[in-house]
Amino acid sequence: MPDTPTTPPLSQAIPQAATALRDAARVVMFTGAGMSADSGIATFRDALGGLWSRFDPQRLATAEGFEADPDLVWGWYQSRRQQVMLARPNAGHHALAQLQCQRPGWRVVTQNVDDLHERAAEAAGVAGPAPIHLHGSLLAARCHHCARPFALPPGVPDEPAGGRRLAPPRCTACGGPVRPGVVWFGEALPRAAWAQAEAAVRGCDAMLVVGTSGVVHPAAGLPTLALQLSKPVWVVNPDAAAARSHPLLHTLTGRAAEVLPLLAAALV
Ligand code: OAD
Repeated sequence: MPDTPTTPPLSQAIPQAATALRDAARVVMFTGAGMSADSGIATFRDALGGLWSRFDPQRLATAEGFEADPDLVWGWYQSRRQQVMLARPNAGHHALAQLQCQRPGWRVVTQNVDDLHERAAEAAGVAGPAPIHLHGSLLAARCHHCARPFALPPGVPDEPAGGRRLAPPRCTACGGPVRPGVVWFGEALPRAAWAQAEAAVRGCDAMLVVGTSGVVHPAAGLPTLALQLSKPVWVVNPDAAAARSHPLLHTLTGRAAEVLPLLAAALV
């Protein structure tokens, strides 16, 4: 069996997805970096412009890297925080928020560390549950030693793209260095968020997987879990190869900002 399925054109795939999802009361909308790519935020693994093609994740996304060079890491994350604060939700975020307004049982589980789902939900007046963040938030910080939350100063940091060396603030309780509130390689996911996400997948009728390469575990195991439980999964990605061949797996090949508004319109 080929590893990469042939994908139908959107003109065919969108009505098919809408028919299948129309009566689904509970859908997990599982998003990754590609969700925010149309807002100008770089993904991690895209060959052109992916962060991990330009920066070393061992130095920038591990506790060991932070301990070895906290100024390098803090400066880089300040620059990413600035980028996120200046970005805006794209048409894909707005489409998911619109779907949540109409269908309160649909919920977002995200690997993203930005707040673009929250901002789109607020603009749409979503009353349902907040997105589940599996990998933390760029807008949060805590002490690397005692884990006490650290209140970042309000306002957008003024940093050069790619960052500069910048000493992290010190914890007001123990004096330890403050680190970004994101999950790094080798670290456990926030326990409550993971439990909620897993329960949401176990209880869902279908899953919509948007803009993730599906290589970082355990998050990447969620679509696999859905398939194991015989739940249909739709994958939104411009790269058709992002979807494996599986009888319950369907592809909507295209960008989040292009595909999701079409899907939301088809579901009205
Ligand atoms: P990746 O960078 O690994 O994958 C991004 C995916 O988005 C790829 O499959 C792209 O084809 C797809 N993509 C690109 N542009 C898109 C668009 N406009 N619309 C839809 N899809 C698009 O990002 P993640 O899978 O999210 O960890 O990466 C998982 C984790 O690895 C991240 O959460 C991060 C990283 O290290 C942490 O920050 C802890």
